[in-house]
Amino acid sequence: MSAHPPKSGMTFTRADFPPDFLFAAATSSYQIEGHAFGGAGKTHWDTFAQTPGNVVRAETGDRACDHYHRYDEDLDLAAAMGLDAYRFSTSWARVLPQGRGAPNPEGLDFYDRLVDAMLERDLKPMATLYHWELPATLADLGGWRNRDIAYWFADFTQIIMSRIGDRVFSVAPINEPWCVGWLSHFLGQHAPGLRDIRATAHAMHHVLLAHGNAIAVMREMGIGNLGAVFNFEYAHPADNSPEAAKAANLYDACYNRFFLGGVFKGAYPAELLDGLAPHMPQDWQGDFEVIGQPLDWVGVNYYTCARIAPNQEAWPSLEPVPGPLPKTQMGWEIYPDGLHHFLTWMHRDYTKDLPIYVTESGMANDDRPHLPDTARIEYLDTHVAAAKRALEDGVPLKGYTFWSLLDNYEWALGYEKRFGLVHVDFETLQRTPKASYYALAKALERA
Ligand code: FCB
Repeated sequence: MSAHPPKSGMTFTRADFPPDFLFAAATSSYQIEGHAFGGAGKTHWDTFAQTPGNVVRAETGDRACDHYHRYDEDLDLAAAMGLDAYRFSTSWARVLPQGRGAPNPEGLDFYDRLVDAMLERDLKPMATLYHWELPATLADLGGWRNRDIAYWFADFTQIIMSRIGDRVFSVAPINEPWCVGWLSHFLGQHAPGLRDIRATAHAMHHVLLAHGNAIAVMREMGIGNLGAVFNFEYAHPADNSPEAAKAANLYDACYNRFFLGGVFKGAYPAELLDGLAPHMPQDWQGDFEVIGQPLDWVGVNYYTCARIAPNQEAWPSLEPVPGPLPKTQMGWEIYPDGLHHFLTWMHRDYTKDLPIYVTESGMANDDRPHLPDTARIEYLDTHVAAAKRALEDGVPLKGYTFWSLLDNYEWALGYEKRFGLVHVDFETLQRTPKASYYALAKALERA
């Protein structure tokens, strides 16, 4: 017998949270919509995926979940689960196929209809303006390496928000700056697949400048409830040595403190600048006023922890090594305490009284329809419990968002890794709610 009996339901209910606490599910445009439809332009994910070796089976988001045509069914599922809100993103390349210039009317119409469809179902629309599908034409101009992107992005923000800004509940300009910067330009695992320190330093800074410009544009337009969404990974030293502690601290600086530092302290962590400073864009120190404009809320995306060993042969002098905890289909260790850590730490050291939302958390599993889905139920339940502990510890936590409503295109890992509360058959596109979906629906029932 295992120490923990398998769970068939959640141990929490809506009544355990304040009455105005929001439960939501998240998706993103390129991962579900079907980018071949509706006049969207090519993105750097199309190019990246079509280059052999980058993405499992060279899969793209061409069709994905065909949400572009099936969004009514998908939002019905979200509403029937008892969710209060739905976090979605808008594709830059769908709205502006060339990245700049003439908008695609079909793209604007689509997001217009999508937002109305949420409102019709009493789902609060939580918009993210950029969840990684950079128009290919802008990638040709250097993408996130080019400072001009901060101004192209401001123009895109203005165009999309002129259309939907009157009806969204909240807006975050950019999903997960660490992934846009480090994962995509230093580790090369996401588009554009670079492994270049100068490109990284530029991208890490420009992504925040773009964030700041977008916030300024939206304030000017009179749009409220503006925030930022960061991702975090808890860094355990691989052993008790001072070298491992130093390496874990450096990992933490890069992953968890760089972007918060930029937005909330007007400074980047010194440990990381030791390596990055010579490669930073000219006069970067002058940009913190734009980067650090006041926000209305902050979002935390959290999935896992890392074990960090020293590695003196390279910069940064660290190396992730495997850890002992049970792992998801991604190979990610399951560590709910990390979520409690980030919520309490960020509130205390950076965001103070600002409302906080968990904007993503969830797990991938090798699911088939109609299986018990106990691992996901347990993952979601223990992470919600960690968030609840943070709430009890005084964190102004206002909502919790599950990743993801649907199985979808998991970037470089293609369609193999299933994060959905709803199973998607990628041949027939049939949707089948999983046991975790029903367990959440039960927990979220109103008395
Ligand atoms: C997050 C991304 C999301 C998805 C999950 C698993 O980093 O925001 O698109 O890939 O990880």
